[in-house]
Amino acid sequence: MKALTVISVSLTASLAAGMAHASSPPTLYTVEQARAGANTYAQNCAMCHGADLKGGVGPALAGRSFVAGRGATIGGVFAAVSQQMPATDPGGLSHAQYEAIMAYILQKNGYPAGATPINYDKAMKDAVPLVFQGK
Ligand code: HEC
Repeated sequence: MKALTVISVSLTASLAAGMAHASSPPTLYTVEQARAGANTYAQNCAMCHGADLKGGVGPALAGRSFVAGRGATIGGVFAAVSQQMPATDPGGLSHAQYEAIMAYILQKNGYPAGATPINYDKAMKDAVPLVFQGK
């Protein structure tokens, strides 16, 4: 009986931890990167994806229509950005420019900035789902 209590207590604790995690999204980029990304985006992406990332010739890159229910991961989106975009010059930007654009996309999807910059190689392997955080 005692063992059962321990199990249910630890289950409750891990559920609570899971909920806490869901309500506070991870910090994946710095505010400087997002700022640089806004410029790089305006010059290389906005003509097809819209100045506000709501879509144009290309699909929306922010909001529920971008990631809702598609099971997209940070790595999957970053790979699409850095290998296939801009459509007119796939892979044509520098790693720093792609990192900055990804920071901007994350910011526009409601992710908060933090102390650790987004890193090209790490972002490519990031299996964490990219979920629109509202707003
Ligand atoms: C010349 C127009 C054009 C430009 C410039 C362009 N894109 Fe795209 N993009 C598209 C089109 C069209 C698609 C959809 C077809 C495809 O996936 O190839 C797309 C798809 C995407 C996707 C996949 C979206 C999804 O829902 O699967 C991402 C992410 C993306 N673009 C990001 C960018 C970024 C970031 C830039 C700037 C570096 C950029 N694109 C520049 C036209 C463009």
